[in-house]
Amino acid sequence: MDYLKIFSPATVANVSCGFDSLGFAVDAVGDEMTFTKTAEKGVKITNITGADLTYNVDENAASAVVKKILKEAHANFGIELTIHKGFSPGSGLGSSAASAAGAAFGVNQFLEKKYTALELTKFAMFGEEVACGSAIADNVAAAIFGGFVLVRSYNPLEIIKLPVPSALRVVAIHPQIEVKTKDAREVLPKEIALKDAVTQWANVGGLISGLYTDNYDLISNSLVDIIVEPYRKKLIPFFDAVKTSAINAGALGAGISGSGPTIFALCKGDEIAENVHQAIEESYKNTGIHFEMFISKVNSEGMKIIK
Ligand code: HSE
Repeated sequence: MDYLKIFSPATVANVSCGFDSLGFAVDAVGDEMTFTKTAEKGVKITNITGADLTYNVDENAASAVVKKILKEAHANFGIELTIHKGFSPGSGLGSSAASAAGAAFGVNQFLEKKYTALELTKFAMFGEEVACGSAIADNVAAAIFGGFVLVRSYNPLEIIKLPVPSALRVVAIHPQIEVKTKDAREVLPKEIALKDAVTQWANVGGLISGLYTDNYDLISNSLVDIIVEPYRKKLIPFFDAVKTSAINAGALGAGISGSGPTIFALCKGDEIAENVHQAIEESYKNTGIHFEMFISKVNSEGMKIIK
């Protein structure tokens, strides 16, 4: 094989209560990446479209991951990469994660799938560190494994793939402002009250139980974040208005996607998702802030090979 084209999905990390430990992949939005095998060793980015990203192979999340894997695998070939960003960096939809995870997945196809999904997640976490200074796993694991994932442990890394109830839909609004993950992490408290921790971990348990049992009421009751959202929502104009309109229109819950500014709502079924889309659009259209929206299924297969 000398050439490969893949789709690497956008992802929603945290999913309200699961800061740094829960995430899911999105079906409708993602990046396309191509990989061409070269006789010359090393990695080169030949084209980037859809976003203004660095071609420096040590600073770009995708090429940094390819370089690391080729080196660790003692590969006797190189890779030329192209990246087409299907969504913006700084959106809260796991842009650097899509690049890093796509890179790990893609190069592994040229290595006879030498590495497991867990090992690929570790490589992709290196890309996250290159892009935003923290080796966070929730976005990259969701992109690689697909569906909902739980990062059960960081050390050693343990990822649990969770079931996806079939009627689950996500509606998202991306206000066209940039929130840097680094800044969104700096506003968080270093310590939290025990009673808040109890509420939060009970909600994580409830959400996971709801996913396993197709219990949409339980999913709805558990989509609550009392620890991170109160701090981060201040970085997102009209967050409360969007959340209220989504819930009034029938969403199971709504929250900040990753570190924002995208706001996601989970819904049961296509009809409610359409209503929620319309309600959120209404709530934002007179704010003076440009925005993009989408409705999607949860992507349960993760990466896709296009050709
Ligand atoms: N879990 C991370 C955060 C996702 O919320 O900071 C962003 O990469």
